[in-house]
Amino acid sequence: MEFSIKQSSSENQRSACVVLGVYEGGQLAPSAHGFDEAANHQLSDLIARGDMTGKSGSSLMVHTLTGVAAERALLVGLGKQNELNAKQFIDMLRSIFTTLGKSVCKDAALYLTDISVKDQDESWKITQIVLAAAESAYRSDSMKSKPAEKPALRKILLGTAKKPGSLAQDALKQASAIAHGMKLAKDLGNLPGNICTPSYLADQTKKLASAHKLKATILEEKDMEKLGMFSLLSVTRGSRQPAKLITLEYRGADKKQKPVVLVGKGLTFDSGGISIKPAAEMDEMKYDMCGAASVLGAILAVAEMGLKLNVIGVIPSSENMPDGAASKPGDIVKSMSGQTIEILNTDAEGRLILCDALTYAARFEPDTVIDIATLTGACVIALGGVASGLFSNQEELAKELLDAGLYMNDKAWQLPLWDEYQQQLDSNFADMQNIGGRAAGSVTAACFLARFTKDYRWAHLDIAGTAWKSGKEKGSTGRPVPLLAQYLIRRAGKK
Ligand code: BES
Ligand code: MN
Ligand code: ZN
Repeated sequence: MEFSIKQSSSENQRSACVVLGVYEGGQLAPSAHGFDEAANHQLSDLIARGDMTGKSGSSLMVHTLTGVAAERALLVGLGKQNELNAKQFIDMLRSIFTTLGKSVCKDAALYLTDISVKDQDESWKITQIVLAAAESAYRSDSMKSKPAEKPALRKILLGTAKKPGSLAQDALKQASAIAHGMKLAKDLGNLPGNICTPSYLADQTKKLASAHKLKATILEEKDMEKLGMFSLLSVTRGSRQPAKLITLEYRGADKKQKPVVLVGKGLTFDSGGISIKPAAEMDEMKYDMCGAASVLGAILAVAEMGLKLNVIGVIPSSENMPDGAASKPGDIVKSMSGQTIEILNTDAEGRLILCDALTYAARFEPDTVIDIATLTGACVIALGGVASGLFSNQEELAKELLDAGLYMNDKAWQLPLWDEYQQQLDSNFADMQNIGGRAAGSVTAACFLARFTKDYRWAHLDIAGTAWKSGKEKGSTGRPVPLLAQYLIRRAGKK
C-alpha cells in the first residue's frame, strides 16, 4: 500500500473513490461542501431522500456522479457534530477499508484528517488511517499453493484543506514504518511451528540485519552453557530443535547513550512439555513466539524511521516439547543469575527462558529493559484481547508505556508487582519455584521475572491475550509493535 498526503479539494481530485464525511442530521463535513456543489447537489439530494443519515456506523457508496473528477464517493457517517471519539473514528476506518477492499477501486482519496475527533490531533488521525488500511490489506498466504486474492486498492491519498506540515508528513512516514513492523510480526507469528523454528527466527534476524545495517548475533547452546544459562537450556532439553539466543542491535545514537533493550519470548512451539497441554487449540501455541516477533517488528520500524536512539533486541528462542530428555516436574536448575529454580510445572517455561535473557540483558548497560511475552493464560482471563498486561518496577516507565499504548489504540493495563505476591513462589528445595498457584497467575509470573531485573529499570508486557486472535479470525495481530514503536518515538524526541 502506498500513502501520500497533500492539499486538495475533493471535487477536483481524480480518484476511483473519494471518501467524505456526513454528520448525523445530514450536514456535510466541510471538505465535502465543494464536492456537493460541483456534483450539482447529488450528495445533499441523497441525504434529503434519507439514503444517508450520517449516523455513526452508516455509509453509502455513490457510483453515479457527474461534475466531479472522482469516479465514486463513499459517504461515511460521523455521528453528532463534535462528539466523534477515537473508537468511533477507528471503527469507521475499519468499515471504510472493508468496503474499499471489496470494491474494484485501485486508489482512494480520503478527506478525513480535518474532521475533529475528541482529544486527538491530526497526526493521530493520519496514523490511524495508515494502520487501518494496512490491517485490512493484510493476508497470510505464504503457505498457500496459490496466493490469496488481494484487494485492488493500492494507493491512498489523504486530502487536506491546508498544506500538510512537517508533523503530518512525519506521522505518515512513521505510521508506514510501524505498519511494516506489524506486518513482519504478523508474518512470523502466523508461520507454523515446523517452519518457524528457533533456527528460522535466527536466520530471519540475520536477513533483517543485513537489509537494514543492523548487527545480529546468534548464541548457540554451547555458548549458553558457558554463560550458565541452565534455566533457559532446561526448556529446550525435550526438543530436537536447537535453542538460539538472538540479539539484534540498532545504533541510531551516540555510543555512550544507554540502550533500550527489548526482550521477546521466542517459544516457537509450546506443547507444555511433560506437563503437557490439552489437545484443543494447542496449534495456537505456535504463537508463543509473538513477543520475539514484536521485538523484531519494533526494531524494523525504528530502523526505517531512523530514530536517534540505541535499541537492542534480545530473543531467547526454543521449543517446549516432551521427550525422554525433557525437564520433569520437580527438577531443579540454576539460572545465569545464580538463583536456583524448582520446576514444578514444565508449562511455565516462558519465565524460565526469559529470566536468563533478562540477566544477559544487563551486559548492554541498559537504560531500560522491556520484555514482551505471551506469558500466562491468566492474563487472557483477566484482560481478554483488549489490553496487554503491564508490570513495572518504575512508575514513570509504566505511565509512558500506558500512554503510548492508548495513543496507538494498542492498549495496556497495569497490574501490581507487590511483594505480598512473592511468597507464592517460595520453594522448600530451591530459591524459588516456577509457579505460584492458580491465584493471580499473571502477577506471580511477573513477580518471578522481577527477581531477575533488580539492577535496572524494567517493564514486562504480558501479551497472551493481545498477540493473536482465535476462532474464525485466527491470526497474529502485530501487537504490541505500535505501543513499542510509539514509546521509542517519544523517547527519541525527548533527547
Ligand atoms: N504460553 C503459555 C501462556 C498462554 C496460554 C498464552 C494460553 C496464551 C494462551 C505459557 O507458557 C503457559 O503455558 N503458561 C501457563 C503457566 C502455568 C503453568 C503457571 C498457563 O498460563 O497456564
Ligand atoms: Mn507454557
Ligand atoms: Zn509458553
